[in-house]
Amino acid sequence: MRLFVAVELEHDLRSALTAVQNALRRDASGVRWVRPEHLHLTLKFLGEVPDGDVARVSDAIRAAAARCDTFDITVSGSGVFPPAGRVRVIWVGLAAASGALGRCFAAVDAALQPAGIPRERRPFAPHVTLGRVRDDRSSGRLRSLVEAARVRPAGQAVRSLTLMPTSLAPGGPTYTAVTRAVLGPPGHKDTNEETP
Ligand code: 2AM
Repeated sequence: MRLFVAVELEHDLRSALTAVQNALRRDASGVRWVRPEHLHLTLKFLGEVPDGDVARVSDAIRAAAARCDTFDITVSGSGVFPPAGRVRVIWVGLAAASGALGRCFAAVDAALQPAGIPRERRPFAPHVTLGRVRDDRSSGRLRSLVEAARVRPAGQAVRSLTLMPTSLAPGGPTYTAVTRAVLGPPGHKDTNEETP
């Protein structure tokens, strides 16, 4: 199963992001926009995980989540990847006070290593992908349009991490979380779902 760890986004934050998609839609052609219900923050991409390792991976994510307290995230600018050249991804950044998001990423990254998932080599750049560029004939213009886009201030509390199959990304109608791990020490947990 191809898996990633996501922070699921609540309605108000998603609507601030879809407003940016809508503002850009008219002027940016050749973009495959992420459907509102699929907008998410990728904390860590795991890639292909053998079925026999999924339980171990889920346990590692629960252990990492237990070491992170609930924190707030807010939108933080917009931009494109890569930083130069042909634009491939349009994103809105997310940030948390006092580095809480980066610490949570580091906890997940470290906990997954003994479960067979390599550490991330690139610096963590928290973002929500709004669209993927298929046919970019105007990278310079697209880059400046995205960087100038206004993002309504919005945010939410992050209370859990979700282990998700990647099939949610390209437009499948539904997705099922493999594991939802609540942040904070076990005594604080009110839900911790697992579906086969
Ligand atoms: P993205 O938000 O930066 O595009 C599910 O497919 C998520 O995993 C995507 O949202 C994507 O993050 C991330 N992802 C997919 N393929 C990846 C890869 N090869 N390396 C790193 N992240 C990947």
